[in-house]
Amino acid sequence: MRVIPHPRAEVCVFSDTDGLRQAAADEFQRAAVAAVAARGRFMVALAGGSTPRGVYSALVAHTAAGPRAVPWEAVQVFFGDERAVPPDHPDSNFRLAYETLLKRVPVSPANIHRMVAERPAWVAADLYEGELRRCFQLERNQRPRFDLIMLGMGDDGHTASLFPGAPALREEHRLVTVTQHPQGGAERITLTLPVLNQASQVMFVVSGPAKAGRVREVLFGPERGQALPAQRVRPARGRLVWLLDEAAAAGLPGA
Ligand code: 6PG
Repeated sequence: MRVIPHPRAEVCVFSDTDGLRQAAADEFQRAAVAAVAARGRFMVALAGGSTPRGVYSALVAHTAAGPRAVPWEAVQVFFGDERAVPPDHPDSNFRLAYETLLKRVPVSPANIHRMVAERPAWVAADLYEGELRRCFQLERNQRPRFDLIMLGMGDDGHTASLFPGAPALREEHRLVTVTQHPQGGAERITLTLPVLNQASQVMFVVSGPAKAGRVREVLFGPERGQALPAQRVRPARGRLVWLLDEAAAAGLPGA
């Protein structure tokens, strides 16, 4: 593993995708143990897309390993975004997490907070706002402070379901909003930037050569926040961690 110096982020590059997945699982476990020791619970938002699949498998293996395991009994699982589909749909982020992780570890079903994306999108967004306010015991103008938010990045620089140029990038009050995928307009439900930037820790996990150019732009290019939503994710009072494999880091210094 090599670290690339960066003014705002901790950028760690791993020799291959397995090393990246293991490191992400290790960081998830570290954050969980620390949060539970400090506050009795671990409030985590899982990433969407396909990259997390390998991280989830590594987490299941961690749990099987025993004493170094994640304190699942105190973990509250949320989602960074969701496609506007039922939970058993092949495109569902919940379905991926449930099939590869959540049904394989001793997390309580009551502690899995799914976006009810089978409902009309704005209904689902409003319901999720309410779920966040209830679970984090928020006052009216407060935002939830997740212990960890896992994120991926698309090759267009989107993250969660915050796409380039989307009006949602200017949302300053809502915790959860509705966006449309730029190809085809399919609706998404997503946490907003103010929630992402309220986190104690954000962990991007990005793999593969297709992302390398955008990773370079986001981390070392000029400020283009409307065009590069992932560049807008900078926790005000938290850690920003980018975990990459060498393929995704190919455009970075020292590659
Ligand atoms: C989604 C995600 C999205 C994802 C990136 C990377 O619902 O698709 O939230 O932001 O993390 O598109 O996706 P891959 O991991 O599949 O490359």
